Amino acid sequence: MVNATTQAALPVTGGAAPAIEVRGLVKSYASGDGVVHAVRGLDLTVAQGEIYALLGPNGAGKTTTISILTTLLLPTGGTATVAGYDVVTQAADVRRRIGVTFQEVVLDQDLTGRQVLDFHARLYGLARVQRLAKIEELAALVELTDVLDRKSSRYSGGMKRRLELARGLMTEPAILFLDEPTQGLDPQNRAGIWRYVRHLRDVRGITLLLTTHSMDEAAELADRVGIIDQGQLVVEGRVDALVREMGADVIALTGVGAPEALIAQVHKLAYVQQVKHLVQTDADTADASGEATHMLQIGVDAGDTRLAEIVTMAAASDFQIRAVHVARPSLADVFLAHTGHALRDTLES
Ligand SMILES: Nc1ncnc2c1ncn2[C@@H]1O[C@H](COP(=O)(O)OP(=O)(O)O)[C@@H](O)[C@H]1O
Ligand SMILES: [Mg+2]
Repeated sequence: MVNATTQAALPVTGGAAPAIEVRGLVKSYASGDGVVHAVRGLDLTVAQGEIYALLGPNGAGKTTTISILTTLLLPTGGTATVAGYDVVTQAADVRRRIGVTFQEVVLDQDLTGRQVLDFHARLYGLARVQRLAKIEELAALVELTDVLDRKSSRYSGGMKRRLELARGLMTEPAILFLDEPTQGLDPQNRAGIWRYVRHLRDVRGITLLLTTHSMDEAAELADRVGIIDQGQLVVEGRVDALVREMGADVIALTGVGAPEALIAQVHKLAYVQQVKHLVQTDADTADASGEATHMLQIGVDAGDTRLAEIVTMAAASDFQIRAVHVARPSLADVFLAHTGHALRDTLES
């Protein structure tokens, strides 16, 4: 069982060399109508034995980052080492130490589960005895033993994902990359993947870098989360620490007018931990008059008891409240506070 204390003790930089180190990573794609800046100066350090989640909306640059770290794509700039090896100049060394599962399922559907695993192991030159043992072991881990001789085309979405996970583990990687490992899965299969991921870290000491656009998943699974938006890491840390920084409770005031004086006043209150000011000016979110909508996220010690005073202050200011919301902060509030937009707004429906 991993508790808060042992998680806090995980080395982030000092001690053992980091499993993954990314500095100033840049990737630009040439596209028909110009250049897409997918990754724009990303810095990232993942300690050995850590589960690190890159959390961000679609288009944030997660798959691009994973593709560079797994040597499938060359960066435009910056550096990255995986297991101490440079992903550009020592790609073969990197490949020998990693496993990866992709966002999209890539299985030869004509093959049975067993054949998929065996083929992959042959590709990496594993001897027959070793292959047989590994297949049995990993099929048991991802609970596919009973269906191993069925064609993978007949697997459910969850079974396909589990098979891919087993394939990624055939070569006993020290570092495993999982790109959106539970995308499209039902809750039961998600929980299964989460269980295997924890097992891999706890029992085998594998370092995991996974990407997700699910805040649940990041909060549930990761030792540390890095929030990625528009190709940059906007904040990183342990989920509980990121959430705690928001205050014990968050009072969110949405409204129009001039909130500046109110913000200055609220800042002076002893029980206010922090104030974030977000402005929405997009045509569809702005007030009908075309006026910008403001949201103030006010982190306080206790929302229920402080609400009246803050609302009274607002009423006496040039800021007109349209909605009030008090809640325990969550990773969603952290995301909003650091990126200025809600994660769900940017997801595909
Ligand atoms: N091969 C490509 N050519 C051009 N643009 C790309 C290519 N792959 C990704 N992009 C663009 O780069 C940005 C980041 O994409 P991606 O890394 O897939 O993000 P994520 O995995 O976070 O959704 C997006 O704007 C995407 O459209
Ligand atoms: Mg992606």
